[in-house]
Amino acid sequence: MAGYIVRRITGNLYILRMNDQRTEFFEGTWHIPEGITYNAYLLKTSEGAVLFDGWKKNYGREFLEALGQLVDIGEIKYLVTHHAEPDHSGTTPLILRENPEITVLGHPMAKTLLEKLHGFKIGKFKPVRNGEELVVGGEKLLFIHAPMLHWPETIFTYIPSIKTLLTCDAFGGYSIPRTIFDDDEEEINEYMFYVKKYLVTVIGFHRRNIPLNIEKLRKLNLDIKIIAPAHGLVWRNYPEFIVKYYEDTAKAVGRKKVTVIYASMYGAVEEAVMAAVDEAAKHGCKVKVYPFTDNHHSDWGNILTDVIDSDLLIIGGATYDTGIVPPIHAFLTIMTSRLPNTGKKVVIISSYGWGGLAAKQMKEILEDKGYKVLDIIQFQGRPTSKDKEKIRQILSQHIKYKETNKEHIEEKQH
Ligand code: FEO
Repeated sequence: MAGYIVRRITGNLYILRMNDQRTEFFEGTWHIPEGITYNAYLLKTSEGAVLFDGWKKNYGREFLEALGQLVDIGEIKYLVTHHAEPDHSGTTPLILRENPEITVLGHPMAKTLLEKLHGFKIGKFKPVRNGEELVVGGEKLLFIHAPMLHWPETIFTYIPSIKTLLTCDAFGGYSIPRTIFDDDEEEINEYMFYVKKYLVTVIGFHRRNIPLNIEKLRKLNLDIKIIAPAHGLVWRNYPEFIVKYYEDTAKAVGRKKVTVIYASMYGAVEEAVMAAVDEAAKHGCKVKVYPFTDNHHSDWGNILTDVIDSDLLIIGGATYDTGIVPPIHAFLTIMTSRLPNTGKKVVIISSYGWGGLAAKQMKEILEDKGYKVLDIIQFQGRPTSKDKEKIRQILSQHIKYKETNKEHIEEKQH
């Protein structure tokens, strides 16, 4: 779905959604062939309009055009910056240039961040405190600080008249859903992988702040009927579901899944790993397999997305020179830096030619960052049938699910 969408959400609140299919690597880092949306919102009141966030700078012309479908830019009285990251604030300098009378509302840190990130000066800025309210044209806005989701200046806005909570990055996801709302079950099922991928890649490092901020929200006892994030679907049917999904994922709750990540130069590690995959599937758990081989390299973001809700990780990689085969070494660095202290259980499978060094180094990297290595299976050259039997026994010991169902194997779905 190319271009942008302007649609009424409820009452006088409208969404302006840009479907970005041009960005290949979000934050220049995460590969997103699925695309991403930027959701800005506009609330019309009898005393002018309130704009919430914006789009990436590349889409300035389209943003003005989309806004023009709803208001004259001179009618915008406030611009609420929930978060200064340029995927939402890229159009802010343009909007303020068109209408310098707009007052920007945001966390006290937002002004400097916006000015430094975009190299301009904001004429009118009003910092908002946690719990502060503003009434404009009879509409009340309640501002809630949501620190480190995923920047320190992140805030939410609650609009009581329409029971809607605007949450910027929180409760958002990658991809370009076919629908605006969570109306279609099939769409939701497809979308949830991208919600998890977004949470893990963008907010993952700060994931402990997700349950903290959700708890803070619950204590406010707000009547929330709609959750409107700045990426992806708007939740009007299942707002509690997306909140719980974020909370569980942030807590790295396992969902009956084994994720297998391996690099295989000449097939030896792959052969051993496949014995583990087969055994895991026999025990009825979902198995996701991410290879690095001579004709396929898996995507870092997708792997992390499956790591976060796995019960067990199987990591396979040989000794390479005096260390770990490079793709696995790189992966371990990314995983342990982005998702430290998950407490995930790991089984290591490794081969070597004349000296086995990789398994020990992998164990050290993992345990140093709060992963729990349960077992190491190491062999010289190719795995023997005895090695593979040992792998099966170890897997059988560590996997608790007892249904037998091979259909649980899923490979490279995304
Ligand atoms: Fe969607 Fe942190 O920006």
